Amino acid sequence: MKTIIANWKMHLTVRESLALTRSVMLSLRGKATVPEVVLCPSFTALEAVHKATSKSRVKLGAQDVFWEEKGAFTGEISPRQLKELGVSLVIVGHSERRAPGGESDAMVNKKVIAVLAAGLTPIICVGETKTERQAGKAESVVRAQVKAALANLPLPLLKKEGPRTLIFAYEPVWAIGTGDPATPADAVAMHQLIRATAEAGVAGIKPKQIRVLYGGSVDGQNAYSFLREPEIDGLLVGGASLKTAEFEQILSSTLAVISNQ
Ligand code: PGA
Repeated sequence: MKTIIANWKMHLTVRESLALTRSVMLSLRGKATVPEVVLCPSFTALEAVHKATSKSRVKLGAQDVFWEEKGAFTGEISPRQLKELGVSLVIVGHSERRAPGGESDAMVNKKVIAVLAAGLTPIICVGETKTERQAGKAESVVRAQVKAALANLPLPLLKKEGPRTLIFAYEPVWAIGTGDPATPADAVAMHQLIRATAEAGVAGIKPKQIRVLYGGSVDGQNAYSFLREPEIDGLLVGGASLKTAEFEQILSSTLAVISNQ
């Protein structure tokens, strides 16, 4: 199975989100086998996109979450509030949130636990900066992020409301929005490291409960080269998910890979 996640970031109004949602659903219509497609609009558009997709195979994701269930946390949104809007997956630890002075590894860990406790699936973003890669620290940075995200994670949490997977997105910070993606070979190597670290990080977890996606300057041209790698379970797409033709191309590359499997 391959998973394609569209991260629309803070780009669209509700009306624009609905228009894009319709075009995604149109490109999947009539296909017998489709990838798992997850749309992550802004919080403001979650309810509308949920209504538009509720009878389709398209799933709804949120771009962030807070770790407390409820309380005096002005401006924050809890997992149960997202769930009420039809959300089933939540991006956690995106580099645009981790950015210096922002979200720490410890906060990412709290969010992962809160998301799972609510019966939702976390999409945990990890990835090194250019400086870290140049210093030869890419592997150690990513390994530490994965370990920290899973700290004190009890296995039973993954069974909350049915079997749950942990989704990781390897997103090298230098590749996000730059037009300079990682090579598929580099991504595969990092995916193997992420998988091994996650397997060691949660006692008793089964390999099929871990999925690792690639993100960072994915477009219609390069999507296939990532998707054809068995270690790459799918893609987290930013900029290209906002362009109808480009995203359609990514979906048709995914369909091509799925039908060859
Ligand atoms: P990009 O963004 O595809 O525009 O590089 C990916 C992301 O930030 O998730």
